[in-house]
Amino acid sequence: MKVLVIGAGGREHALVWALRKSPRVTDIVCAPGNGGIASVARCIPASPKDLNDLLRVVAEEAPNLTIVGPELPLSLGFVDELHRRGLAVFGPTRAAAMLETSKGFAKRFMQRHKIPTARYAVCTTREEALDSLHLFHLPVVIKADGLASGKGVLVCESKREAEDAIAGLFSGKLLGSAETSLVVEEFLRGEEVSFLLLSDGKHVAPLIPAQDHKRLGEGDTGPNTGGMGVYSTDSILDARMRAWLVHHVAQPTIDGMAAEDAPFVGVLYCGLMMTARGPMVLEYNTRFGDPETQAILVRLESDLLEALEGCVEGRLSETEFCWKPGASASIIAASKGYPGSYTSGHRITGLDVAARVSGVEVFHAGTALVDGDYLTSGGRVLAVTATADSLEAALGRAYEAMGKIHFEGIYYRRDIGHRALKAR
Ligand code: AMP
Ligand code: GLY
Repeated sequence: MKVLVIGAGGREHALVWALRKSPRVTDIVCAPGNGGIASVARCIPASPKDLNDLLRVVAEEAPNLTIVGPELPLSLGFVDELHRRGLAVFGPTRAAAMLETSKGFAKRFMQRHKIPTARYAVCTTREEALDSLHLFHLPVVIKADGLASGKGVLVCESKREAEDAIAGLFSGKLLGSAETSLVVEEFLRGEEVSFLLLSDGKHVAPLIPAQDHKRLGEGDTGPNTGGMGVYSTDSILDARMRAWLVHHVAQPTIDGMAAEDAPFVGVLYCGLMMTARGPMVLEYNTRFGDPETQAILVRLESDLLEALEGCVEGRLSETEFCWKPGASASIIAASKGYPGSYTSGHRITGLDVAARVSGVEVFHAGTALVDGDYLTSGGRVLAVTATADSLEAALGRAYEAMGKIHFEGIYYRRDIGHRALKAR
């Protein structure tokens, strides 16, 4: 079986790594891939932002299954195009991806289907948004409606900050393009959990839970990023809570989308806040998380291909999942300056030594393979990932491996998993 993976990040490297373990996969290609993926799959230059370019790759490669990593191709209707051509593809249609591509849509959807979420107002003008501020206590959260690579959410401590955020989003000063709609939302307190599930449009299969660290700085300070590190243990959500989430969040979302004629096939990522009032959905992503996927897939012992095919073919209920007990952790090595501007092209050393640490997999994100050297080529460069019997040991292995890797301007958080370790 020939599989095509779309994307260029650590998430896609982990997907390719896991798919290669499937005995039925005979050929894997990745578009566009990255330096690390190039050593395990054939990479085809393509822009994930360009629908026609991606369709050209599909036509040339004729894969038996296409797996979409990032959100952008989903928002462009890439999956719909493949359906139209009668091709097998893992990922939601453009209509189903609306759960991620429009936060306003997602909030109204949750309200229609009684899925617990923060109180909110969807506003389409600056005046309306400013006016809605009196409905919320401080801090208040202001969110761009559309895709913003994790940069469209602002937690505002003062009214002045909120006013600036609203002005900046509508004018385009904050994200580069002017928003036409935003969500003003109640600030929620609690621990965040990334709860991912697979669906064939009808059934749901929860993956193991993970906790991301979205802020750039140690102690959860500084700006929001795409994610600086993740850990996964079963104890993040106990069995009762998992069952509650399937019943009150996962299944109602899948049933709601089916009832609204936009059946959801793919992976649904529910970003949860575990508040004193119970779990609430902060956001949906309609794709695998990054670096959640790295931490989740290193614990998957059953066949990933079988599971993804089960979704595409509407027989997920027959699929069995088997997970490695214990824990995993995935730490991001970023370029200094990320999520702002940074420089690229720096040589990465120590990857071989790092990969020899027991239980460690080094997944590449922003890297390029040039004349046999790995060079940095993005904000998030590597996801150094490890499994072990305990969270302490998994973190220990990941940090030991990280200590062997060098490139100019390397930055990583040294406190991934700090809340879980403190709670013990
Ligand atoms: P989102 O893209 O909606 O997940 O937001 C990005 C990050 O902003 C989340 O992972 C949270 O850390 C934070 N955030 C979003 N909404 C809220 C909220 N209502 N209360 C507190 N923090 C939030
Ligand atoms: N790690 C957060 C995300 O993938 O959106």
